[in-house]
Amino acid sequence: MKTQPVSYQLISEDIAALETDVLVVNCYEDELSPDAKALDAAMDGLLQSLLDSGEITGKAGSVFPIFQPKNIKARYLLVVGFGAREKASVVTLSKAVDAATQWVKKMPAETITFSILSNCGKKAYTIPKIIETVAHTTYTFNQYKSKKDEQNAQVYAINVAALTEEIQAAFDYGLALKKGVLLTKDLGNTPANHLTPTDLSDIADNLAREYDDLHCKILNDSDIKRLGMGAIVAVSQGSAEAPNFIVLEYHGAQSREEAPIVLVGKGVTFDSGGISLKPGAGMDEMKYDMCGAASVLGTMKAVAELALPLNIVALIPAVENMPSGTAIKPGDVVTSMSGQTIEILNTDAEGRLILCDALTYAEQYEPKAVIDVATLTGAIIIALGHEPTGLFANNQDLADALMASGEATRDRVWQLPMWDEYQSQLDSPFADIANIGGGRAGGSITAACFLSRFTEKYAWAHLDIAGTAWTSGANKGATGRPVGLLLDYLKKQSLA
Ligand code: BES
Ligand code: MN
Ligand code: ZN
Repeated sequence: MKTQPVSYQLISEDIAALETDVLVVNCYEDELSPDAKALDAAMDGLLQSLLDSGEITGKAGSVFPIFQPKNIKARYLLVVGFGAREKASVVTLSKAVDAATQWVKKMPAETITFSILSNCGKKAYTIPKIIETVAHTTYTFNQYKSKKDEQNAQVYAINVAALTEEIQAAFDYGLALKKGVLLTKDLGNTPANHLTPTDLSDIADNLAREYDDLHCKILNDSDIKRLGMGAIVAVSQGSAEAPNFIVLEYHGAQSREEAPIVLVGKGVTFDSGGISLKPGAGMDEMKYDMCGAASVLGTMKAVAELALPLNIVALIPAVENMPSGTAIKPGDVVTSMSGQTIEILNTDAEGRLILCDALTYAEQYEPKAVIDVATLTGAIIIALGHEPTGLFANNQDLADALMASGEATRDRVWQLPMWDEYQSQLDSPFADIANIGGGRAGGSITAACFLSRFTEKYAWAHLDIAGTAWTSGANKGATGRPVGLLLDYLKKQSLA
């Protein structure tokens, strides 16, 4: 995978005297920030007069560069807008950091210093947000281009009032988060011919080689059959690529016996729909159908970096969903690992099939909680658009904890109902359960209801990331969500 020539530093300096190519300070709509005010004194009130004259607007995401500012060592002073002071949040912070980084990208700058953190909220969230945003804005995926844009090595420094332990911890957290997010984005963006179920297993295996606390076991085709994972077999049988079931265990708790949290990631490395073939337009985006798996692996990497005192198990059923003479057909009935039989009415509803066997496999851990992450339904985009991830849960404490982490990190989720009234849509005349509901209405809910039939033995939440894992259009690319959310949740669990 590619590495970026971008690095990060935490500093506590007199910014007027700091030698840096670009010094970034912030400003509100009608008030200079404390950092800007401090410089303004050295600059004989220039910033205040630019604000008074309306040349600096302070509007969220605006940038105002000053070349060779008077009495300040930086080559450029870049004033970024934070919007109205009362509304300043990690969102405006991120918008401003993005705007500054976009501006920097057009300049031959190598050292960039952000001094924007006073009055800006909890450092535990703002410092990681700066790192995460710079990583997003500077991210490129050009592994498969023969001509790569040359990029100078860049150092982004974050200036703070004092280098306390708490601030250092926030910085380390940000670096770990960034590593996890970049892995998730790289895996998502990798084309399906370069990321098969076997390739995905190799990635997990390599993570385990990299970190002592991670242990990887790959169950192959025959293990999967032997365990009775008939639903995974059914989805994979049309493809020339063999399925794999990845078990990646992290032991960070005092005791190996401590009940783990289990993360399950949908790993469909390409979803053609199978015999229920998808339409051609946009089908390339189904290389992203392993983003659940990618976010789980990214989260595991970040967890291992931070050495969180928890036990966590990642389970990833990895398959390719293809049409062929050996493919599963609509109407076929298969037996899942749980023993429940499933009538497969639509081979394109394959995510829930591979997940149900993984969710049954999870029972053996007697887990504290199980969270699955999946690009499960197009219907979640109809319901919620692309802002929040869809959340379903059989345990409200777990749902509340995930919602709180979503708010804090702004990697937000929105809970949908899983009422009993929906369950009957999954009735089948020929098997215990059908793999799709009656019609298109409430498609994300019936998908979650399907999964709920396999999760009765533990606290469980399901994250439908079909609308949030990647963006389409000119800037097509994986977002790295919901690694920020999951890492925050796990961090808080490790403190509980
Ligand atoms: N991977 C898709 C879901 C998806 C579709 C994600 C579009 C992002 C964009 C999933 O396997 C699928 O095909 N779901 C079907 C379910 C249907 C057949 C009940 C869907 O959403 O159409
Ligand atoms: Mn599908
Ligand atoms: Zn799918």
